[in-house]
Amino acid sequence: MRTAGWYGLLLIGVLSCVMPLRRGEAVNPETLFMPGPLSAAHQKYEEDCSNCHDRSNRARESQLCSGCHKDIHNDIATRSGFHGRLQAVGSAQCRACHVEHQGRKADIIKLSREQLNHAQTDFALLGAHDNLTCDSCHRAGQPFRAAPRDIRSVTIVMATIAKVPSSAVIPIAG
Ligand code: HEC
Ligand code: HEC
Ligand code: HEC
Ligand code: HEC
Repeated sequence: MRTAGWYGLLLIGVLSCVMPLRRGEAVNPETLFMPGPLSAAHQKYEEDCSNCHDRSNRARESQLCSGCHKDIHNDIATRSGFHGRLQAVGSAQCRACHVEHQGRKADIIKLSREQLNHAQTDFALLGAHDNLTCDSCHRAGQPFRAAPRDIRSVTIVMATIAKVPSSAVIPIAG
């Protein structure tokens, strides 16, 4: 009887250590095996690991990513956009560049704005455009691909006057 009591206390002790961390959430016990929480963008998929993992076939994981990220998949298939122009992106795993399980606030893109070669996109920056800041054309919180279309048409005009010294060109937007 006495021993059973101790086991009871021990059990309560163990549970009270584990439970408060997870109170109020419906929990898939598999989340205990995660290296860390997912980034905020993927938070709502955390409960179902099979969204991104296939234990029997790890090579399929990038396909799982692409299943949701159809824009990226399409870029790769048509060799357009940033992803479509990456060398050997077909064979590269998405995870080679996009980390996960590093917490809600983790930056899973890690783009170096300084190092980006804009000719690696659908839209080479010509002449005066090279001097514009990224934010002149790209809005914070939106994917880079969402740069407004009209910038493209303005730019065709700008490209024709690219030989004019950049100080003489009025920056568009912002
Ligand atoms: C939104 C996609 C996504 C979901 C959902 C997800 N993971 Fe991951 N997981 C990743 C990515 C990407 C990596 C590779 C991380 C890296 O290399 O930095 C990874 C890596 C891991 C690793 C390290 C071993 C390995 O395969 O590299 C474990 C273990 C893991 N995940 C477990 C889980 C578990 C358990 C769940 C569900 C409770 C889960 N993951 C849900 C994307 C996800
Ligand atoms: C079940 C659907 C789903 C799966 C599977 C999924 N994602 Fe996502 N992902 C999303 C959604 C929704 C967002 C937020 C909106 C957006 O940016 O498209 C997002 C955002 C992202 C972002 C942008 C994050 C940011 O901070 O802007 C990256 C990069 C990304 N996912 C990469 C991946 C990779 C790599 C995998 C595979 C390991 C993956 N995703 C699997 C749905 C998914
Ligand atoms: C060589 C590195 C690299 C690889 C491999 C890679 N990405 Fe990316 N990804 C980036 C960079 C850099 C950005 C930020 C630039 C941009 O928005 O295009 C990005 C942006 C993204 C975004 C957010 C922007 C958007 O347009 O929605 C998503 C989602 C994404 N990648 C998904 C994927 C998926 C899915 C794969 C695998 C099929 C993948 N990436 C492979 C480097 C990579
Ligand atoms: C003159 C306007 C302009 C400036 C300045 C500019 N961009 Fe862009 N950018 C665009 C346009 C337009 C696209 C093509 C969008 C599309 O795919 O339709 C683009 C595409 C991109 C892409 C590829 C998106 C993808 O997934 O294919 C990335 C990444 C990017 N820009 C990053 C940057 C960064 C970083 C800077 C600053 C160093 C910058 N851009 C400056 C107009 C600009």
